[in-house]
Amino acid sequence: MTAKWSPESWREKEIRQAPRYPDESALADVEARLANYPPLVFAGEARRLKEQLGAVAEGKAFLLQGGDCAESFAEFHANNIRDTFRVLLQMAVVLTFGATCPIVKLGRMAGQFAKPRSASTEVQGGEELPSYRGDIINGIEFEPASRTPDPERLLRAYNQSAATLNLLRAFAQGGFADLQKVHQWTLEFVDGSPQGERYEAMAARIDETLDFMAACGLTPQTAPQLRETDFYTSHEALLLNYEQALTRVDSLTGQWYDCSAHFLWIGDRTRQLDEAHVEFLSGVKNPIGLKCGPSLDPDDLLRLIDALNPDNEPGRLTLIARMGADKVAAGLPPLVRAVSRAGRKVVWSCDPMHGNTVKSSSGYKTRPFERILKEVKSFFEVHRAEGSYGGGVHFEMTGQDVTECIGGAQAISDEHLGDRYHTHCDPRLNASQALELAFLISEHLKEERAALSGNGRRVAAAS
Ligand code: PEP
Ligand code: CO
Repeated sequence: MTAKWSPESWREKEIRQAPRYPDESALADVEARLANYPPLVFAGEARRLKEQLGAVAEGKAFLLQGGDCAESFAEFHANNIRDTFRVLLQMAVVLTFGATCPIVKLGRMAGQFAKPRSASTEVQGGEELPSYRGDIINGIEFEPASRTPDPERLLRAYNQSAATLNLLRAFAQGGFADLQKVHQWTLEFVDGSPQGERYEAMAARIDETLDFMAACGLTPQTAPQLRETDFYTSHEALLLNYEQALTRVDSLTGQWYDCSAHFLWIGDRTRQLDEAHVEFLSGVKNPIGLKCGPSLDPDDLLRLIDALNPDNEPGRLTLIARMGADKVAAGLPPLVRAVSRAGRKVVWSCDPMHGNTVKSSSGYKTRPFERILKEVKSFFEVHRAEGSYGGGVHFEMTGQDVTECIGGAQAISDEHLGDRYHTHCDPRLNASQALELAFLISEHLKEERAALSGNGRRVAAAS
């Protein structure tokens, strides 16, 4: 870390995955404009999320983080935002039922625009152009003009994030998330499917419970928890020029917050201790995440934790394991042990998406549902064996009826991938697959709770 952190101290460090802007002064001009724009979130909200994640770290709540791999300018539409929000609400309700503990809801939404890439250029038909790095940086069309990083895109991403966040707040607080509407969250194409039917049966039980509570005098009018929900936003803090411009001093505490989202994470490709991304996030007070891939060494992880959470505050740091289904059993225990032995308070979350991307025989980038499921199961098994708490999940999913991941109850096969393959980056779970996974995790959490209360270990986790 630099001796003295400042919002721009990352600029003195080595940086990976940074785009090359042809006109640096145009970029500086946009950064200056953004620095004068209103923050997108309020520091007090980020603190509230940190507190709730603190409860997760202590085994008293569970984290559900999900949304697009990459948001795009082209797919900016109220229906898309609403439908992803609906599926997240459904998943949360299913998980609440299984875990009988609060579910912290965190969208990969309203700012998830910048993407790390494995190669900095792409070759098509003999022509080499910069890789697509997300709509905040360049365009996906394979043409020189579109692939050239354009600073104006930062402003567009800011505006789209502001509008998305505005709608999400309205949905979360304005009645859409009212538990009495639990039946209406189902998307048409899931209705009637095995997942839809299972969900309906559960929703009917919730109705019954609500009727009982109403008879006791607890209604959405008297108990706001029933009619509104906390919903937070997150994205990968990759484009630091943008993040810096939205970093402000909180007038209440005098501390720095990155006000582009409530929660920011460091990707698996940019987590080097002495480099720019770790430097930047070490100094903002938001709750933050760190992706932990199979190449992460346990000692390096401890050094990163020291840098990112020196005061060992529960809720400050979420470790998002993304090993790959076959690597969890061997790769995760050494990390979990190192963290537990050192007494580090973290949230352990499972991203079963990024270690399980394969190329289908038809040429599409896809993720087999069974591998996603296997990674989630192995993650929980490791935590059970190590006596630690697997406290969350991180998904790439959408409310749209896409065919991007193979498998699941709908049995999407290789030949179906082309039907509705719309992602701008990685393959996402569709609503039906996301719900299926939520039911499976919910069953696991129920079993876990029964097992734990049986032997007296970590009973608090379930109470
Ligand atoms: C992502 O979450 O979109 C991502 C790129 O993940 P990772 O850094 O784990 O590869
Ligand atoms: Co992704």
